Amino acid sequence: MHLLSFILLAVVSLVSVTYVNGLAVMSVDLGSESMKIGIVSPGVPMEIVLNKESKRKTPAVVSFRDNVRTFGEDAQTIGIRFPKNSYSYLIDLLAKEINHPVVKLYQSRFPYYKIVEDTQRGTILFQHDEDTFYSPEELIAQLLSRAKEFAEHSAQQPIKECVLTVPGYFNQAERKALLQAAQLANLKVLQLINDYTAVALNYGIFRIKDFNETTQYVMFYDMGASSTSATIVSYQTIKTKERGYLETHPQLSIIGVGYDRTLGGLEIQLRLRDYLAKKFNEMKKTSNDVFKNPRAMAKLFKEAGRLKNVLSANTDHFAQIEGLLDDIDFKLRVTREELEEICQDLFDRVGAPVEQALKMAGLSTEVLNQVVLFGAGTRVPKVQEKLQKIAGQELAKNINTDEAATMGAVYKAADLSTGFQVKKFITKDGVIFPIQVIFERESEGAIKQVKRILFGLMNPYPQKKIITFNKHTHDFTFNVNYAEFDHLPQNEILNLGALNLTVISLEGVADAINKNKGDNIESKGIKAHFSLDESGVLKLINVELVVEKTVPPEAEKEEEEGPFSKLGSTISKLFTGETEPEKPVHETPEEKPEEAAEAPEEKEPVEKPVNETTKKNETATPPKNATEKESAKDAKPKVVTLKEPIKAAEKILYIDKLNKKQLDESYKKLEKLTTIDRELNRRATALNNLESFVIDAQNKLYEDEFTQAATEEEIEKIRTACSTISDWLYEDGSDADADTYESKLNDLRLLTRDLYGRVFEHRERPEALNALRSMLNGSNHFLESAKNLTKSTNPEKDIFTDVEIEMLQKVINETQDWMDKMVEDQEKIKKSEPVKLTVKLISEKMAMLDREVKYLVNKLKIWKPKKTEKPKEDKNKTTDTGKEEQKASEGSGEKAEGEDKEKVEETVENPEVETEDDDDDDSVKTDDTSDDSHTEL
Ligand SMILES: *[C@@H]1O[C@H](CO)[C@@H](O)[C@H](O)[C@H]1NC(C)=O
Ligand SMILES: *[C@@H]1O[C@H](CO)[C@@H](O)[C@H](O)[C@H]1NC(C)=O
Ligand SMILES: *[C@@H]1O[C@H](CO)[C@@H](O)[C@H](O)[C@H]1NC(C)=O
Ligand SMILES: *[C@@H]1O[C@H](CO)[C@@H](O)[C@H](O)[C@H]1NC(C)=O
Ligand SMILES: *[C@@H]1O[C@H](CO)[C@@H](O)[C@H](O)[C@H]1NC(C)=O
Ligand SMILES: *[C@@H]1O[C@H](CO)[C@@H](O)[C@H](O)[C@H]1NC(C)=O
Repeated sequence: MHLLSFILLAVVSLVSVTYVNGLAVMSVDLGSESMKIGIVSPGVPMEIVLNKESKRKTPAVVSFRDNVRTFGEDAQTIGIRFPKNSYSYLIDLLAKEINHPVVKLYQSRFPYYKIVEDTQRGTILFQHDEDTFYSPEELIAQLLSRAKEFAEHSAQQPIKECVLTVPGYFNQAERKALLQAAQLANLKVLQLINDYTAVALNYGIFRIKDFNETTQYVMFYDMGASSTSATIVSYQTIKTKERGYLETHPQLSIIGVGYDRTLGGLEIQLRLRDYLAKKFNEMKKTSNDVFKNPRAMAKLFKEAGRLKNVLSANTDHFAQIEGLLDDIDFKLRVTREELEEICQDLFDRVGAPVEQALKMAGLSTEVLNQVVLFGAGTRVPKVQEKLQKIAGQELAKNINTDEAATMGAVYKAADLSTGFQVKKFITKDGVIFPIQVIFERESEGAIKQVKRILFGLMNPYPQKKIITFNKHTHDFTFNVNYAEFDHLPQNEILNLGALNLTVISLEGVADAINKNKGDNIESKGIKAHFSLDESGVLKLINVELVVEKTVPPEAEKEEEEGPFSKLGSTISKLFTGETEPEKPVHETPEEKPEEAAEAPEEKEPVEKPVNETTKKNETATPPKNATEKESAKDAKPKVVTLKEPIKAAEKILYIDKLNKKQLDESYKKLEKLTTIDRELNRRATALNNLESFVIDAQNKLYEDEFTQAATEEEIEKIRTACSTISDWLYEDGSDADADTYESKLNDLRLLTRDLYGRVFEHRERPEALNALRSMLNGSNHFLESAKNLTKSTNPEKDIFTDVEIEMLQKVINETQDWMDKMVEDQEKIKKSEPVKLTVKLISEKMAMLDREVKYLVNKLKIWKPKKTEKPKEDKNKTTDTGKEEQKASEGSGEKAEGEDKEKVEETVENPEVETEDDDDDDSVKTDDTSDDSHTEL
C-alpha cells in the first residue's frame, strides 16, 4: 500500500518525495562549465531552480570588475571584454599543486590568468590585482553561495542543507576542498555524491517498476565540458529485513568506472578556437598576432562554442566575429569534417573509458541492457558514432539528461534530510581508487614491509573496515596509501597527485599491553577502525587494543569494576544502521591465520550511533545486557572482550584542508564581497526610490485632488524641491551614496507629508462617514429591540437594566450629534486647511459605539431564563439553555459586528454566568460594575 502510493505519486509528480515537516533542501550539480540547482521544498516536489534570468542552468563563472561582482551570464559578458577578470572552469583546480598537470593544462588553455603558488598549502591562487588573491575554494564558495541564493529565492525560505555532486575521480584532497568551499558558502553538505551515481539514482527512481530480482546492467556515458566518464551500474531488487519483516527495495550498485579527466567539450571548443585564430592570422589582415590578444581570444572562444554546437546538427557553418582584432571583421566557413579532423585524436579517446569500465565490472557489452548518453559532449555525431561501434547497440539519447545528476542529488538530499520521506533506493557506490595500509614488521630479525588492502577496487561504500595488528608490542607507525592502480592509464595516475595519504603514529602501545597481561588474558591485537563515508572521504575512527579475558562466573562483579569496559557493542554502536557491518582486514601473518578468532566481530549487530557523552559513560559502566547474557550461561567460564584506546596521531600527506586561520581569512574576504554587493544593492534601491518619488510627486501636482488640497505656495515649494533633486540626480547626484539618497528622500517626504495627508483625508472621509452612519443605524435598531427586554417591558425576559438602555441611548445620541457638528465644521473650512474631521477621529467614535453595543449583545447571548420552580441550578441543563441563548442571540443580535470575536468572549465570560445565576438579586450590582468598566473605556 505504501509502495503503491509512492508509485502513484511518482506517476503524478514524476517523483516519489513526500513532504513531512522540514525545511527545503537543495542540490547543486556544479560542473566546470555550468551549475544546476535542484530543490525540494514543502509542498513542492523535486524541481530545478531557475536563476535570475529564469534559466535552468547558470554558467559557473564569477567576475569582478570595478568593485562589482557578477555571476553567470553577466560574468561571461565581462569575461569577453576583460578575460582575466572573469573566472571559470574552476572545479578541477581544487586542491592542486602549481605543477599539477591539470593546472598546467589550465594555464596553457587560458594564459591570461596570473596563477601563483599558495606557499602555505602548496596550492594555487589566482592573483586578481596587486593585493587581491582568490583560491579555487573561495571562488567556488561564491558560486555555491549564489546557488544558495537562487534556491532560497525559489523556496522563499532559508536553506542550509545540500547535496553536492562531485566528479567520481575526485581524490581525498579534492573532496575535502569542495566540502570546505561549501562551508565557506555557509552550506551544510549532507553528502557529496559522485556525479555518475546521482545520474544512476535519477535513472533508477523513474524506473522502479522495471526492476526485479534479475540484475539489469546499464552503462552511462557522460561527456561533459571538462571530462568524460563511463559507468556501469547494476539494478535489481533485494529483500531486506529491518523492522522485523521482509521488505523489497530497489538497489543500484556502481560496478565499473572508466574516465578521461581531460576529454570533453571544452577541449573541442579550444581546438576550434585555436583553429579559427590560426586561420585569422593566415589572412594577414594585420601584423598583430591574435593569439596574443586575450580579448580577441575570448571572442573566438565564445564563437567556437557556438560553432561546435551548430556543427553537431549541421555539416557546415560560418564563424563570424565583427571587429575581432584591430577593427577587422572575421568570417570563415567551417565544415564538420574540418572539426573532426582537428579533433581526431580526441575522438580516438572516446572508447577508452568504456573499456576501462567494462574491465572493472568484469562484463562484456552483450550483457548491457542499455547504454545511456549524458552530457553535451555526447551530442557530437562523431562521439556517438564511436560509442555505437564499441557498445554494439543502439544508444539511448532520448532521456532528458542535462538535469539528471541534479535531480538524483536532490532526491538524495530529500532522503538524508529529516523533513522529507522518499522511497528507499539502496545506493552502493564503488571504490575506484583502492586504499591500502603499509607497515613494517620484524620477522626473524629482519624488517619486512607488509601491505594490506583496506578498501579494494570496487568495494562498495559507505563502509567501515578494521585492520588488526597482531605482532606489535611497542609504539609504531603505519601508512595509508593508495594501492597500485593497474586499472588506470599513467596520465590519470599523475593527475591524482600524492599517492601517499596519511601516516598514523601510535602511542602507548606497550603500556596498554602491559596493563593487560595475565594467564587468563589473550590479546586479539591492535585494531584500527577506518570508514569510507557516503561522501567518499576516508576517516580514521579510532585505534584500540583488544583483549579477551576468561572469567569464572563468580569473578564477574570484580571484572565489571575493572579498568576496561566490555567490547560489547561499543564499537559497532559507533556506526549507523545504514552502513554495512564492518569487515575486518587482518594483518594475517602467513604463519598464523587468525580468521577464527576474529569471526565474532563480523557477527556483531550494527546499532544506532552513540554520541561521545554516552560512549564515555558506557565505558565507565558495562552495559547491563552483557551481564545478563553471562549469568544465563553461569555454569561455564565466560570470555569477556575488553578494549583499551590507543592514542593515534594522523599526519596528512596529500594537500590538506585550509586550517582554522586560513578559513577565517577566507570567510572575511567573502564577507567583504557580500557587504559590497549589499551596499550596491542598497544604493540602487535608494536611488530608485528617490527617482520614483520625485516623478510621482511631479505627476500628482497636476491632479485636481492635490491642487485643491494645497495652497499655491505649497505647490510651488514642492515643485521646486522636486526639480532641484531631479537636476541634481542627473549631475552631481549621479554617483552619490545610499545615505545621501535616503536623506534626500526623507526631506521630500517631510515636505509633502501634510499635503499628502490632507488628500488622504478628503479621499477617505466619505467612506468613513458612511460606515459610521450605518453603524448608528444598526445600533438604533438594536436599541429598539433591547427596550422590549427590560423588567418593565418584558418581565419574562428582563435582560437589560434601564441604566443600560439609557446608556446606549446616550452614546448613540452623542455620536450622532458629534458627527453632525463635525461634518458641518469641516465643510466650512477650505480643503487646503488642516483637516478637522479626520478618519482617525471617526474610527475612534465607531470603536466606542461598537464596544457599547457588543457589551449588550453579549449579555443577550449569555442570558438564561430564571428557574423559579427549581431553586437549585441543574448543571446538566446548562447545555440546553445554552442552545436557547444561542437562538436568542441569533435573533436579535444580527446587527452586532465582529462575529469572529464571539467565541473568545464566550469562553471568557462563561464563569460570570454562574455567579449571576447563583444570586439573582445581585444582578444590578454586577451590571453597575460592568457599566463602569464599559462606559468609561
Ligand atoms: C524481470 O524483468 C525482466 C524484464 O524487465 C523479465 O524479462 C524477467 O522475466 C523478470 N524476472 C522475474 C524473475 O520476474
Ligand atoms: C609513500 O609511502 C611508501 C610506503 O610507506 C614509501 O615507501 C614511499 O617512500 C612514500 N612515498 C613518498 C613520495 O612519500
Ligand atoms: C549526547 O548525549 C547526551 C546525554 O544523553 C545529550 O545530553 C546530548 O545532547 C547528546 N549530544 C548529541 C550531539 O546528540
Ligand atoms: C554520564 O555520566 C555523567 C557523570 O557520571 C552524568 O552526569 C551524565 O548524565 C551521564 N550521561 C549519560 C548519557 O548517561
Ligand atoms: C537485552 O537483550 C535482550 C535480547 O537479548 C533484549 O530483548 C533486551 O531489550 C536487552 N535489554 C537491555 C536493557 O538492553
Ligand atoms: C416592543 O413591544 C411592543 C409591545 O409589546 C411591540 O409593539 C413592538 O413591536 C416591540 N418592538 C420590537 C422592536 O420588538
